[in-house]
Amino acid sequence: MPTKTDKRTTGSGRNDTGIDTNAVRADFPILTREINGHPLVYLDSAASSQKPKAVINSIVDYYENYHSNVHRGLHTLAEKATNAYENVRGRTAQFIGAPHVEEVIFTRGATESINAIASAWGDDNVGEGDEIVITEMEHHANFVPWYALAKRKNAILKKISITTDGQLDLSNLSEIITERTKVVAVSHMSNVLGTINPIKELAQAAHKVGAILVADGAQAVPHMPVNVSELGVDFYAFSSHKMLGPTGVGVLWGKKEILEKMQPFLYGGEMIREVSFEKVTWADLPNKFEAGTPNIADVIGFEAALDYLENLGMDNIRRHEIDVTTYAIEQLSKLKGITIQGPHDATMRGGAISFTDADIHPHDISTFLDSKGIAVRAGHHCAQPLMRAMNIIATARASFYIYNDRKDVDTLCNALTQMRSYFGL
Ligand code: ALA
Repeated sequence: MPTKTDKRTTGSGRNDTGIDTNAVRADFPILTREINGHPLVYLDSAASSQKPKAVINSIVDYYENYHSNVHRGLHTLAEKATNAYENVRGRTAQFIGAPHVEEVIFTRGATESINAIASAWGDDNVGEGDEIVITEMEHHANFVPWYALAKRKNAILKKISITTDGQLDLSNLSEIITERTKVVAVSHMSNVLGTINPIKELAQAAHKVGAILVADGAQAVPHMPVNVSELGVDFYAFSSHKMLGPTGVGVLWGKKEILEKMQPFLYGGEMIREVSFEKVTWADLPNKFEAGTPNIADVIGFEAALDYLENLGMDNIRRHEIDVTTYAIEQLSKLKGITIQGPHDATMRGGAISFTDADIHPHDISTFLDSKGIAVRAGHHCAQPLMRAMNIIATARASFYIYNDRKDVDTLCNALTQMRSYFGL
């Protein structure tokens, strides 16, 4: 596994950001693949990142050597599995600066985490005429659960709009967040525009009127240091699969005092203290929110992902991403017909770069790039309200991570140039 002290060994015109992409790439078996006769250039990590051998091996090791259910048995395997599973909770709490380990709840993903907050917290705390504030740049996972809550409760769904350069328009915030606001839900980093939002300031604005702040951190946690205590948020949601870990694992972090008052959102085994026909009482945190057998293997795999990221250093990862994103914006801006969405200053954004071509549909861009071995996402990126606000139907999106470097940007740009000539432009 590469370390934060490794130096870059090869490549073209790249800064030393503390990440040796060649060493990183060697840890990801899938990156040795060829696609359509070309070496794979994977630029779709905002949808899901690839997995290092260490993550894959830790899941195999669990199944081969200590698989058992957790929290139930007293035998050796059950104890080993329980300790391993619970250890990941502690590691996760540390990774995001959570003050209490029991504030970390494992879910199936960021979507499930946000749904849980919107129903379990929302149903008890939002009523008729109350206001729910979201933003125009939300991914559907942080839009639809709030829309559904507003419908259930006859509450009012309000939005913070975006500026033409893809940032939140906070000029009229005091008109949007009011005494009727109960919750402000906002993505920490946009999956389409890459914009990093001012979560701390929004949390302060929410708290001033007695509302809570829910942050969707699915795109932020993989790419930059995140500390939920410093941000001052009330809930924070993210997924393992975008940060080198397995699919099917999400994190719901919430302030202990809020989680303690919140109703469960799933009922069954392990989330109870006592059950009789007359009365059921709930277990303490975190068990109250983890009914049934959890996704033990993938939670254990998630720990290997945390190890990998911590070993590289989240500050280094962020620096590397600023470097690659700056270069990508520079190079893409030189291409005829290409328009980049979102902020152009890489220090204000992450490495998910959406772009359009004046003459070629994003689906055709994606198909052409795939023929050259380059994987990008194309479409509305599960953010239809944002597409409407930008007056476009879709974009192509190249998203960069620790295994990408400036050479990948060059490969992308060369392919886009070939594409325009292929289409006779
Ligand atoms: N949220 C993921 C994406 O942006 C699925 O692609």
